[in-house]
Amino acid sequence: MIEVKGVSKEYGETIAVNQVSFDVKEKENLVLLGTSGCGKTTTLKMINRLINPDEGEIIINGQSIISQNTETLRKGIGYVMQNIGLFPHYTIEENIAVVPKLLKWDKKKIQDRVHELIKKLHLPASSLKLFPNELSGGQQQRVGLARALVADPAVLLMDEPFGALDNVTRTSIRKEFNDLEELKRKTIVMVTHDVEEAFELGDRICLMDKGEIMQIGTPKELLFYPVNDFARKFLDGQRLALEFKVLTINDIWENLPNATNKTKEFSADMSVWDAMEKLRSTHFADLAFINNNKDCKNVTFDDLIKAFNQYKNLGKHE
Ligand SMILES: Nc1ncnc2c1ncn2[C@@H]1O[C@H](COP(=O)(O)OP(=O)(O)O)[C@@H](O)[C@H]1O
Ligand SMILES: [Mg+2]
Repeated sequence: MIEVKGVSKEYGETIAVNQVSFDVKEKENLVLLGTSGCGKTTTLKMINRLINPDEGEIIINGQSIISQNTETLRKGIGYVMQNIGLFPHYTIEENIAVVPKLLKWDKKKIQDRVHELIKKLHLPASSLKLFPNELSGGQQQRVGLARALVADPAVLLMDEPFGALDNVTRTSIRKEFNDLEELKRKTIVMVTHDVEEAFELGDRICLMDKGEIMQIGTPKELLFYPVNDFARKFLDGQRLALEFKVLTINDIWENLPNATNKTKEFSADMSVWDAMEKLRSTHFADLAFINNNKDCKNVTFDDLIKAFNQYKNLGKHE
């Protein structure tokens, strides 16, 4: 769906983006991850031509973006700006309706779509007549998302979409975001400096440093097959928790004991982390899991830890 090929951008002496190449598949969520200043925003903005690269090419739907009319291109791409970027003197309704107005939708269609979206994003109807500064950070964030989604673009670019929020709000909005049907049919490129966020939301993660790609792969690949020291060290602080979250019961299945006493069964697609949480919060000594072959195993907390350690020591991911 999106192909970025050997793209570079310099600002005077600063090489903001250096020979960056990646593909984004249809309906995939690719996360650009890296510390501040590594070139994430610049990369993102080149996709909708807010910035033109010095070098390289970007192709969307088989067509080079420079051969497309900029306005037409941007109409097909929703954009959530870093720091939300709502228009302060527009009401919430006006903020969301900017693109439909440009597209000359009729009033009724705009109104219906705006109402549909605020419902989906859990914003109160009473907020429509308010101005951005009268809303909480979390609500403003939802408005930013509504504005990007309003014309139902196939591609969505999101720059630190949860960056302006406190940690608690962030975590809960992220969960909602993951469950939002409207986002599941979109091809998304999302920027973040937050490792946990990248792992939670990304189908694949593109880890960047100093304008270059260090590694691109699934969360599992980044964790268990780091390609260099940078990639390894970048995740080290959160490694254990990430591993528990990324691995599922299926992944460690063969290392779990075979005991079964059929009780309520959970899917083996559950992450090791969630299984640990469940064991902790319920008072069961074990949980029963069933995999795709309809095999069943009963698993205690100790079984989980043992199987997890075995998985790591088997060396299949070295
Ligand atoms: N308009 C600009 N003029 C000069 N330097 C810029 C400009 N935009 C970005 N840069 C520089 O390019 C580098 C990458 O910036 P950016 O893409 O915004 O990084 P990130 O989004 O990863 O924090 C940084 O060193 C930044 O200072
Ligand atoms: Mg940025």
